[in-house]
Amino acid sequence: MAFVAPAPAEAASTLGASAAEKGRYFGTAVAAHKLSDSQYVSILNREFNSVTAENEMKWDATEPSQGRFSYTNADRIVNHARANGMSIRGHALLWHAQQPGWAQNMSGSALRSAAINHVTQVASYYRGRIHSWDVVNEAFADGGSGGRRDSNLQRTGNDWIEAAFRAARAADPNAKLCYNDYNTDGVNAKSTGIYTMVRDFKARGVPIDCVGFQSHLTNSVPGDYQTNLQRFADLGVDVQITELDIAGTNQAAVYDTVTRACLAVSRCTGITVWGIRDSDSWRTGANPLLFDNNGNKKPAYTAVLNALNAGGTNPGGP
Ligand code: XIL
Repeated sequence: MAFVAPAPAEAASTLGASAAEKGRYFGTAVAAHKLSDSQYVSILNREFNSVTAENEMKWDATEPSQGRFSYTNADRIVNHARANGMSIRGHALLWHAQQPGWAQNMSGSALRSAAINHVTQVASYYRGRIHSWDVVNEAFADGGSGGRRDSNLQRTGNDWIEAAFRAARAADPNAKLCYNDYNTDGVNAKSTGIYTMVRDFKARGVPIDCVGFQSHLTNSVPGDYQTNLQRFADLGVDVQITELDIAGTNQAAVYDTVTRACLAVSRCTGITVWGIRDSDSWRTGANPLLFDNNGNKKPAYTAVLNALNAGGTNPGGP
């Protein structure tokens, strides 16, 4: 019988499969009400192996009145993900935005207790089912201060973030606990403020496992994007690109650069885009995603897939 040479390893043909070959995940934000859209679901199931609830796990959705928890829409996403073998990013336990009205009207120790109870209840409800939780979202200020953003949560005391992380760890010991923010894509005052907090948490034993970089970009990405991811990884946390979308010119090239940067950092464990088709994007009219309004792959999709197929492996896995 003639010798048949083994076929060369084939480049993967979907985002999720290619990322998985590299020890990573490739995810998308999902809206529960779109799970009845067959085109949306077919792209979701074909291309992605991680999901983030776009709004359904936020405080206003999960605790609409104090102490009454509501998981119906979040569960639709969780159940879809689990039925299809996708991991789940939990987003977000505490944030200054999208709070229920009752929490917006609270302050001081009453708000602190309510916030920590929220973390405990939601993280406990989903215990064992969440790959990574955004425990705290967007707590640092924009601009040059490098300090915290003013909010009702911040006014309960500077230790609100570490209190939230400790509560989340107690509630779900196996979930990775992330701090997540935007405008942190290069080395700048805001990202350095977060870097300093993470370094302090690691030094004091406050539980933190990962930092999320939302990466809502327009036209370009800072030249030190990879350097910035790496400096966080060097603190001993995973880094994740959590809400990627890219508006403006050079879209495919910028997607390529961002994807390659993640793959060059061994602790960059996954990338999530913030929606599937341009028509699904929160940035109305910006067309910042990988699929057009008809569900067709854009040049940006091909750039990402090729970059994933070319990239390095994460030895730690996703
Ligand atoms: C956005 C959602 O995409 C919108 O549907 C919603 O109206 C507002 O929030 N940073 C975050 C995300 O952490 O939760 C935000 O999502 C986008 C900015």
